[in-house]
Amino acid sequence: MTSQVRGVQLARLLGQWHALPGRRRSPDYAALAGAVRGLLADGRLPLGVRLPAERELAEALRISRTTVTAAYRELRETGHLASRRGAGSWTMLPGTHRVASTGLWTPLDDRDMIDLGVAALAAPPQLVPAARAATEDLPRYLGGAGYHPTGIIELREAVARSYTERGLPTSPEQIMVTSGTQHALDLVLRLALSPGGGVLVESPTYPNALAALAARRARITTHGLAADGVGWDADLLLGSIRQGRPKLAYLIPEFQNPTGHLMAAELRERLVGAAHAAGTDLVIDESFVDLPLDGTELPPPVATFDRHSRVISIGGMSKPYWGGLRIGWVRASAPQVQRLAAARVGVDMASPVLDQLVAVHLLADAPAIVAARRTQLAAQRDALVGALAERLPDWRVTAPRGGVTLWAELDGPVSSALARAAEEVGVRLAPGPRFGLDGTLERFLRLPFTLPAADLVEAVGRLAAVRYDLDRAGRPQWREPSVIA
Ligand SMILES: Cc1ncc(COP(=O)(O)O)c(C=O)c1O
Repeated sequence: MTSQVRGVQLARLLGQWHALPGRRRSPDYAALAGAVRGLLADGRLPLGVRLPAERELAEALRISRTTVTAAYRELRETGHLASRRGAGSWTMLPGTHRVASTGLWTPLDDRDMIDLGVAALAAPPQLVPAARAATEDLPRYLGGAGYHPTGIIELREAVARSYTERGLPTSPEQIMVTSGTQHALDLVLRLALSPGGGVLVESPTYPNALAALAARRARITTHGLAADGVGWDADLLLGSIRQGRPKLAYLIPEFQNPTGHLMAAELRERLVGAAHAAGTDLVIDESFVDLPLDGTELPPPVATFDRHSRVISIGGMSKPYWGGLRIGWVRASAPQVQRLAAARVGVDMASPVLDQLVAVHLLADAPAIVAARRTQLAAQRDALVGALAERLPDWRVTAPRGGVTLWAELDGPVSSALARAAEEVGVRLAPGPRFGLDGTLERFLRLPFTLPAADLVEAVGRLAAVRYDLDRAGRPQWREPSVIA
């Protein structure tokens, strides 16, 4: 990858590197090398980027060049940097350091197992009435063949209306109904990305998006999100797009999975401008847009700033309503929707009519259903945050302003080990490395607050019990496939 990080940018990422724990015992160069390794391990500094020249970094950090030279040397020795004379130095990880970030094996279903691997709610009470009402509507469709590659008109109208209500005028011709947001992403990638095409994603990001990208053999580069604060670093994000000119960027601006960050309006506008200038298509995953908590105001949809059909938005029913419905959608230009529908016919023809009718009824009741979801999620989030503060006070946790997950910073690089130990005490976790590439993010853990508060509190208690006793945990028995969602 061609991307490079400038001296001032790296200095900002390094922050208070000279004041890190254990600092007093180590010389400056070792502390600097350690801080760079920390950024790599956390996914904040992507792999394969060119670091600033020694002189440039020395100036940005206001330290001597000799210190930077020694730090780079140490990073080369530990396998975190590859240098070529005259060309520069690129970030890497030592060859042996690679943790599998895929693999769907989990122990047999166990009633006592508290599943924190899936970030989705149980169905709302309105689902059964909506399903009954949908069967009443079905006869209207039974006279036709039932294939509607872009979706039944009633649902496309309802989805278009919801975009228009968010301030983004949308016609039903701009909507294609899919079998879930994941299906929407897969179809968009089929259309917009040829094998080997470059794609920029956030790190951490949604693991199944990484799987969809891997299936298209995408060449993935990452933008590291900060665990706290605003998340995206505007300068670095826009710089990656301008320099790397990826074919596509996949981003989750509303209550990002897993971090819960919400992208500000200003960055949305700049992002669309940079993407247009670089020839990059933006795939914007709006899975959590219906779930702001605490009255948080939403910035305009990213597509609001789009004048050149650069933005393809995807979303669906799974997070505010129910994952088992398998209804999602794409919002794009009408010609793009036609091309997507043509591609889709070679995959699954169309989505089930009955399920789409259920979705129409749920969307008609959206204000009541979504309001109840938000109240429920806010209470569960607060219970989880409270339990973490009490039982695992060394973990750093920021309560997200929406969505269904929080991204805990652990007290050490133990996420995978903790997930294995947690299985033994009946808690299933999605450890940090599942949300990144190359086995980084071991200091982080995604915790969804989609289960009842009592289960969350119980799970935190069990995690606290194993956290300090990781070494004694045995190996889990992997038996049955399961998903992280
Ligand atoms: C960001 C994101 N995109 C897509 C999906 C998949 O959604 P669906 O169930 O609609 O396919 C999820 C589910 O967890 C998600 O978090």
